[in-house]
Amino acid sequence: MPGREGGVMAHEGDDGVVRVLFVCLGNICRSPMAEGVLAKMVADQGMSDRVVVDSAGTGHWHIGKRPDPRAIAAAAKHGVELPSRARQIDPAKDYGSPEDGGWDYIIALDEDHVRHIKRQGGPMERVKLLRSFDPKANGSLEVADPYYGDDAGFDRCYEEVEAGCEGLMGTIVDD
Ligand code: 4NP
Repeated sequence: MPGREGGVMAHEGDDGVVRVLFVCLGNICRSPMAEGVLAKMVADQGMSDRVVVDSAGTGHWHIGKRPDPRAIAAAAKHGVELPSRARQIDPAKDYGSPEDGGWDYIIALDEDHVRHIKRQGGPMERVKLLRSFDPKANGSLEVADPYYGDDAGFDRCYEEVEAGCEGLMGTIVDD
C-alpha cells in the first residue's frame, strides 16, 4: 500500500474523507464483519481520519442489536472487533450524494441487497458487491448468508470478507 502522507484518495469528497457503507440483510453478521475488518485495515494504515466506515441492513428485525456472537467470535480470531449495533438502511440519508454526506461506496454482501437498493432507487453507480474487489473470487461474487449455518460458515464468511476488504482498500486508495 502506498504512503498516506498527502496521498490521493479515490472518490474523496471536498473534505478529503472517503465514506464506505456495507449492506447485508440483518446487519448482525456479514456487514458488521466487513465494517470491523475494513475499519481495522484503515486504522492499521493510520487512515482513520480519512475513511469513514459504517454498515446497515436491508431488514429491520435486529435494529439496535449487537452482532451475532458467532460473527464476533470469527472476527476475534483475527484480532478484529465488531463494535456496531444493527440499523436499517435509511434511504433518505444513505442514498444521498457524497457532497451531502452520503456514501462514496455502498458495498453489498450479496445480490439480494443490490436488488433491494435498486428497488429503493439507490445510487447504483456507487453500489458494488464486496467480492467484486477480490481478484481471486471466482464463480459467485456473493458472501453467503451464514445465519442459519454452522460456525465453519462464519469462518468462511470472514475469509471472503477479508479478501474483499483487501481489494477494496486498494481501490479506495489511489496508488
Ligand atoms: P446478515 O445475516 O444479513 O449477514 O446479518 C442474517 C441475520 C439475520 C437473519 C438473516 C441473515 N434473519 O433472518 O434474522
